[in-house]
Amino acid sequence: MSATGGLRVAVFGATGLAGTGVVRACLEDPRIAEVRSVTRRPLRFSEPGLKEVRCHDFLDLDPVAPDLEGLDALCFCLGISASQAASQEDYRRITHDFALAAGRATRAASPQAAFHFISGSGAGERSWMSWARVKAETERDLARLGLARCLSWRPAMILPEEAPDRLTWVQMLGGALARPLAFLPDFSVGNVAIGEAMIQATFEGRKDGVVENREIRELAARHRAAPGAHQPDQRRGGG
Ligand SMILES: NC(=O)c1ccc[n+]([C@@H]2O[C@H](COP(=O)([O-])OP(=O)(O)OC[C@H]3O[C@@H](n4cnc5c(N)ncnc54)[C@H](OP(=O)(O)O)[C@@H]3O)[C@@H](O)[C@H]2O)c1
Repeated sequence: MSATGGLRVAVFGATGLAGTGVVRACLEDPRIAEVRSVTRRPLRFSEPGLKEVRCHDFLDLDPVAPDLEGLDALCFCLGISASQAASQEDYRRITHDFALAAGRATRAASPQAAFHFISGSGAGERSWMSWARVKAETERDLARLGLARCLSWRPAMILPEEAPDRLTWVQMLGGALARPLAFLPDFSVGNVAIGEAMIQATFEGRKDGVVENREIRELAARHRAAPGAHQPDQRRGGG
């Protein structure tokens, strides 16, 4: 927590679809004093309260360890879709090994912080899809790290309430198909709503477990209704 009492949050993968939404949710919440984006390339914007941290090796976080101190939450939004990965090993390295490295670094630098890992709807150790197994193994291994608080988030299709600087064709196509069905609670969730849900879970003191798409939307709705969670005129509507 900062000297003023606001939370300090780090966001990995802040240039991506999920990460852009999580950063936006943090910047719009007056109870958050500082957001640290940890990325390999610059963000397209800068704002008061946002600190950019450049990272060149997500398996060796020692160089950025000082930037992980004093955190209340770390939102791990870094990831890759299985269709983009060069190989299954590459997918596992980015999904599992990077997340575990971030989990260990969080445990060392900010032992009380909540670690929020973005997994995905359908994750399962017995799934026939290898991406789903890797996500579930990552959830499992993070839960065994001994973090003070560790939550795995399983969004379904993520919709860009706040657009990142680039969208993959899969994200564009998925978003276009999912938008008319956005009223279905299990089908999609906004990228800012994910951030709001993570903030809400952090404030509610939730310690561990898996958060499915429907519950992400419920947490985001509670955040949107929470007194003091928004600047006047910035309250959002959807999920
Ligand atoms: N999109 C969906 O509908 C959806 C649904 C369910 C779950 N998810 C999960 O949510 C997570 C984020 O997905 P997203 O849609 O936000 O992805 P995205 O838009 O492609 O963003 C991915 C983020 O991870 C970073 N990243 C990827 N590979 C990296 C590497 N090798 N080294 C360093 N940084 C790397 C990217 O950095 P650069 O910008 O520098 O490339 C970017 O910040 C993923 O784990 C995904 O499986 C997504």
